[in-house]
Formats: sequence, C-alpha cells, structure tokens
Amino acid sequence: MKLKGRDFLKEIDFSAEELLQIIERAQKLKKQKKNGREKKRLKGKNIALIFEKTSTRTRAAFDVAAHDQGAFTTFFDSSSSQLGHKESIADTARVLSRMFDAIEYRGYSQSAIQELANYSTVPVFNGLTDTWHPTQMLADFMTMMEHSEKKLQDISFAYLGDARNNMGNSLLVTAAILGMDVRLVSPNSLTPSLEIQNIAQGLTEISGAKITITEDIAQGVFGVDFIHTDVWVSMGEDENVWSQRINLLKPYQVTTEVLKLTNNEDVKFMHCLPAYYDDSTSIGKKIKDSFGIVGVEVSAEVFNSKNSIVFYQAENRMHTIKALMVETLS
Ligand code: CP
Ligand code: NVA
Repeated sequence: MKLKGRDFLKEIDFSAEELLQIIERAQKLKKQKKNGREKKRLKGKNIALIFEKTSTRTRAAFDVAAHDQGAFTTFFDSSSSQLGHKESIADTARVLSRMFDAIEYRGYSQSAIQELANYSTVPVFNGLTDTWHPTQMLADFMTMMEHSEKKLQDISFAYLGDARNNMGNSLLVTAAILGMDVRLVSPNSLTPSLEIQNIAQGLTEISGAKITITEDIAQGVFGVDFIHTDVWVSMGEDENVWSQRINLLKPYQVTTEVLKLTNNEDVKFMHCLPAYYDDSTSIGKKIKDSFGIVGVEVSAEVFNSKNSIVFYQAENRMHTIKALMVETLS
C-alpha cells in the first residue's frame, strides 16, 4: 500500500494493514541500523517540528530518525516563534509547507492539528494532542509484538489509570483496529468519551477485537500479557486536579500486587513515559510533600522490575517515527 503523502493525525484514519506496514518498516529499519546497513531514503528533506508542549522522546525520535535518513529538522515552540500569539495555525501551515517537506505538531486540541493539516500541502504528523498520541501507538504495538510469542490478535493488555486521556483513547482504538483483547481499567468517571467508545466498538465488528471497560482491577487484569499505564494528570491540565485524581486513582496504581493479579508471571509493564514512580523529579517531590505518597501511577518496584520494558518501548519511538517518515515521504 502506498502511504506517500498521507497525514498521520489519528489512528482511526488508518487500516490495520496500513498501521502494520509502518510497524514492519520500523522492524526492518531497526535491524538495518543495528547492522550498520541503513540506507538514507530522506536525503535533503526538511522536517518542521512544532512543539506547543514539552517533549523528550518525541522530539529526540524525530531528530535522530531524520538525521539517520539524511533529512534535516527545525524546531519551533510557541515562545520562540510567532505561532499562536502573532500568527494563526492556518497561516503557519501555509508558510511552513512552502519550505518544509513535512510538519510534526504537538499541541492541545485535535481541531488545531486538523486545521494545520487542512492548510498544509505537505504531510502533517501528530506528535500528541489532548485526544490522541498516534506515533506512540506505533512504538507500543511494535514493542508488544517484540515481547510476545503470540499472534497479534491473541495478545491481551490492560491499561490502568486515566483512561480518557490521549493514551487511553489511542490504546483503545488501536487495539480495536488491530483485533486485540484490550481492557481499560479505571473509575467510571475516567473512561473515554462515549463517542470514542462507540468508534472503538464499531471497529471490533471488522477486526474481532474484544473490548472490556471496567472499574474492577482483578477482573480487568486477569490473564493479560501486558499492563500499561500513564500519568494521572496530563500536560495542559490544571495542577489543581492532582488531589482529585489521586483520590480517584490510588487503587489503580500499578504495584507488584496488581502484577500478581494477572496470574501471569511473565506479564510485561509498559508506560509511554515520563513516569512518576519516585520523588526524584520536582513533581514527584511536590506530590510526596502534598499528599504523602511516593510513586504515583506505578511503584518504583514495578518500574525497575524485570517485567518492565519501558526503555525498549522508548527506543522504538525512534524506529517507528523513522518508518512513518520513510513510508509517507520517500
Ligand atoms: N512518550 C512521549 O511522548 O514522551 P515525550 O513527552 O518525552 O515526547
Ligand atoms: N498523557 C500524557 C502523555 C505524555 C507522553 C500527557 O499528555 O501528558
């Protein structure tokens, strides 16, 4: 399938075959890089990287992937460019697409990236919005495939925590597209919107995916191959929601007890990162001082355990983002 020229704004714009084509390309590129046999397929291309929120992995992944492939990147944020305060998204898109071959955008609303894509004449890649995190999905599903002997459709995973954030939404619909057994385990008030649940449910009719949305931790995690979590308060949310989130989500922290409830001693732990599992970060410390807890969505014991594959997952951000650029630009 030809993906050249396509935007990558959200998972539901893509079929299972198309998503797997990008992941398969990433597997090949990863091997080629490790063997020193990588060919540069993006020589001379220029990629604009717009970050209205902070980033370590996504920015690093686009930069390194572009450089490996012979392309160049230029970084923009709202404090050092005209975006937002002096220039609209539409005009930014019209300017940048005359100079660049693709635009990566991380921001707040999904409608903003949709607007950017409407006015851009070059592919636009979603580096995270409040609603979706599609480049993360390419890495997450590639990592699950690498760490399981099972066929993709036989893999089951549970996501614990704030299930109506970008990660909860994206894991749900991507598993629904790919035909997997996905469980969202969270309080009822933190489940994806009905609109997103309905989209996912609709996709199961084509893919045969199984969706469980439950408050019950023991039922939700029983027998799964992977446990995912993410931060309880996402970028762009008010700091004041921490106290309410901690009250709601405390039982959903991924601990050794939760791993035991899977009844699978090989269960793997995943997290898109960054993670709050100790008090070594300023936020981790603030949470300890304000709420008396060390470790939020995951315990240090689980994060650092042999079950944890979070750094394999982080590395795969680079291989999959590279594959996305190669598939859509070369
Ligand atoms: N997982 C992820 O998107 O990380 P960054 O925020 O560091 O890019
Ligand atoms: N849900 C998190 C993901 C970070 C990669 C956030 O949006 O802050």
